[in-house]
Amino acid sequence: MPPKNDRMKILGTGSALPKHTVTNDMLSDYVETSDEWITTRTGIKSRQIITTERFEDLAALAGQRAIDAAGLVPEDIDFIICHNVCNVYVTPSLASLVQGALGIKGPNCPTMDINSACAGFVYGLDICDAFLQTGRASHILYVCAEEVTRMVDWTQRETCVLFGDGAGALVLGKGDNYLASKLTSTPMPDVIYYRLPCEPTPFETGEGIDTHVSMQLKGREVFRMAVTSAQRDIRDVVSKAGLQLEDIDHYLLHQANLRIIDAIKQNFDLPQERFHTNIHKRGNTSSASIPILLDEIIREGKVKRGDLMVFNGFGAGFVTSAAVVRY
Ligand code: UT7
Repeated sequence: MPPKNDRMKILGTGSALPKHTVTNDMLSDYVETSDEWITTRTGIKSRQIITTERFEDLAALAGQRAIDAAGLVPEDIDFIICHNVCNVYVTPSLASLVQGALGIKGPNCPTMDINSACAGFVYGLDICDAFLQTGRASHILYVCAEEVTRMVDWTQRETCVLFGDGAGALVLGKGDNYLASKLTSTPMPDVIYYRLPCEPTPFETGEGIDTHVSMQLKGREVFRMAVTSAQRDIRDVVSKAGLQLEDIDHYLLHQANLRIIDAIKQNFDLPQERFHTNIHKRGNTSSASIPILLDEIIREGKVKRGDLMVFNGFGAGFVTSAAVVRY
């Protein structure tokens, strides 16, 4: 183990959601669905959907709230990492746009984006941990921001009812609170994917595989893999931290489907209230789901300093991730 205070600590959290709330009943204006189907199959009742907001402003607002919660100012941040699957800018990075929106002038605040789909939150924590451990940064702003509702086909009821938009952010500094992590990846690109065309060139016409396909997912397959991998990864990461499952105060799982979370927690003989959820009011916000939930339960006073938390996610790839963190 690295020496004490040579790893990572959460200094502050923040989140930001679009202002427009869409209930299940409102969705039946667009596709043949019902509140009853969505509630029983997913646990979702409503979600926030981006409308007139600028996506980078939403990400920056979550970041500013995390900076405030850490008792810092934007100029204290010396690295910005964003996790994002898709937004209208392919380049520059979302992290670079967030830097501008926060008024951090630079040049000594590098920025970059990562993308490990819905499992990405812990992937990014691992990267932050590495930069802090090597002394390459002292205060990292890490923002997971997603607008998944712009990746789905709004005539496909199988996908469009599942998602919401939002951003969750953390300010991370040196500490000894990142106790263990586990990342996995298995190449299965057909279970969840979304494809955008690149520009045609005189040498590549864009025909064939280079076409636009809105988000596709094999729901049942993902459901099964999510439950199996979560049971495995949670046990592995807790044991890697030298702890028992019952030592963990809070379990924060990727909010994709309440039935997935219920199936996972049934396999652990633990008090149900240790598994936090907000999917009923947020939908699936991809990589942002865990940090938004984390920020909400911290602000609700449910987490105190010293509590042990497990984060666990899964997503397109197929990728999975888990971590044990002391708050
Ligand atoms: O974060 C990573 C990405 N998330 C996921 O990949 C989600 C993982 N999977 C799931 O959450 C679930 O598999 C779903 C919620 C996507 C689907 O639940 P399911 O219980 O696996 O339902 P299903 O796909 O087997 O569909 C059952 C029926 C079908 O009708 P038939 O063929 O039985 O007549 C669907 O056409 O439900 C129908 N259906 C709907 N009905 C009303 C599918 N979507 C809807 C809808 N409203 N929105």
